Amino acid sequence: MCLSKEGEAVMGILDGKKCSEEILEKIKIEIDKMVKSGKRAPGLAVVIVGENPASKVYVNSKIKACNKVGICNKEISLPEDVTQEELLQNIQKLNEDENIDGILVQLPLPKHLDEEEVCNAIREDKDVDGFKPENLGKVVLGKEDGMIPCTPQGIMYLLDTIKDFELYGANAVVIGRSNIVGKPISSLLINRGATTTICNSKTKNIDEILKKADIIIAALGQPKFLKENMVKENAIIIDVGINRVDGKLCGDVDFENVSKKASHITPVPGGVGPMTIAMLLTNTLKAYKKGGEE
Ligand code: GUN
Repeated sequence: MCLSKEGEAVMGILDGKKCSEEILEKIKIEIDKMVKSGKRAPGLAVVIVGENPASKVYVNSKIKACNKVGICNKEISLPEDVTQEELLQNIQKLNEDENIDGILVQLPLPKHLDEEEVCNAIREDKDVDGFKPENLGKVVLGKEDGMIPCTPQGIMYLLDTIKDFELYGANAVVIGRSNIVGKPISSLLINRGATTTICNSKTKNIDEILKKADIIIAALGQPKFLKENMVKENAIIIDVGINRVDGKLCGDVDFENVSKKASHITPVPGGVGPMTIAMLLTNTLKAYKKGGEE
């Protein structure tokens, strides 16, 4: 069963992998058409610092997806001991490169580097991660014409595939308050009229709050934190966690048990992760178009 915005999610599994493949296919068709008509292809630069194995896996997935749809990509691998100044110089060059529409610096950076300054050095219109205060601020203000952070945007896309579900007035609970996921997804939910509560792992009476939730976004980075007894019957569960336990990937949700109660649930892997990448490519195409290439 296909999971598109027009489609319907079946069997309760929100299949992010399938949904992302559909989005990639649409992007590919659009880029093929543009290139055939003589325009240049969109370009994405991915900067990675050091040897973090998880970051390498994520970057490889992003590059692979770019290649699938025809987005030109430039991977810039810098050594672990690169200085802040050298990194900023690299970003400056990419800011000035006319063939680069989007710039992504894979996080986390090694401890000696200032992540905030690095992310802020990216030109606002090339900030395809949507991490800059200008882009995050627009999301908070309900102006979604800037770059919307990829994971939250992917979650909203998945929620929109659920037929006969009204977000307006629904009780949404977000567990986690990161700048990348918790804060922006809370804003997007508020913008759509959901009554939104933001919790963290230490929130008092969290079970009571969760029990009232029609939607739960688990983004706190604790393996299998969300248990069956914490959710109400037919809740929608979005699992943003990617944890490795005994060499196996698992999310922040105890999928095996919670899935028996949920009306819809995202698996890990194959849920939110592929949607994040699909939204990165969507943002890159958006940046390209905004740059007047179309
Ligand atoms: N590290 C973990 N998630 C992300 C992401 O979405 N973008 C970047 N740049 N780094 C990350």
